[in-house]
Amino acid sequence: MRIVDLGCGAGRDLVSWGVTPADQVTGLDIDDSSLAIAKSRFPDRTFLRGAGECLPLESESFDRVISAIAIPYMNIQKTLSEIYRVLVPGGSVSLSLHPPSFTIAELLHKAIPNPAPTVFRLYVLANGLWFHGTGRTVGFLRGRTESFQTERGMKIAMNRAGFVDLSFRRAAGPAGGTFAVEARKSKVIDPSTAVRVP
Ligand SMILES: C[S@@+](CC[C@H](N)C(=O)[O-])C[C@H]1O[C@@H](n2cnc3c(N)ncnc32)[C@H](O)[C@@H]1O
Repeated sequence: MRIVDLGCGAGRDLVSWGVTPADQVTGLDIDDSSLAIAKSRFPDRTFLRGAGECLPLESESFDRVISAIAIPYMNIQKTLSEIYRVLVPGGSVSLSLHPPSFTIAELLHKAIPNPAPTVFRLYVLANGLWFHGTGRTVGFLRGRTESFQTERGMKIAMNRAGFVDLSFRRAAGPAGGTFAVEARKSKVIDPSTAVRVP
């Protein structure tokens, strides 16, 4: 299976994501120093520098996209649209995300009372609320983006991007744990009418 690890950072063991040695993994991140570490740790994988919002990948060239806690740092509507583009029809996407409790914990325990971190965490909080209502995120200064995600926001954003068969899963952990969503790109039976079927 051809898999993209989006926002791969320094790379991680992907066994818990169902990735096997037979899979071809392409890791992608915007951070060069993390990519250098990832390359040394996982010489069998391919690594590329790029942004989730503008993937340097061919359309319909991957069977699966996975992303571990990197979507919270991206423009989600643009990134989902890019993930949809690079997946083959019937391809799948698995994303782990930040629940609201993560952002609240960051604000209360790490940011307050320092002014700049507090302003940034308040932006993240507002961006998460905006995402909950609209399924869209907005950037902060110099294009930096962060938000928390909710099931409602992800449903709006993923349905808009064209994904089907959404399922959500929660995992306990520090700062409220994480939650994850899985979905699929539908199979298009008639390209002229772009009718999607599950
Ligand atoms: C919390 S780290 C997670 C790294 C890795 N997935 C892991 O589980 O260890 C988030 C990663 O997303 C990357 N990232 C943030 N914004 C990005 C973007 N717009 N496009 C691609 N990668 C991005 C960061 O450079 C960072 O490596």
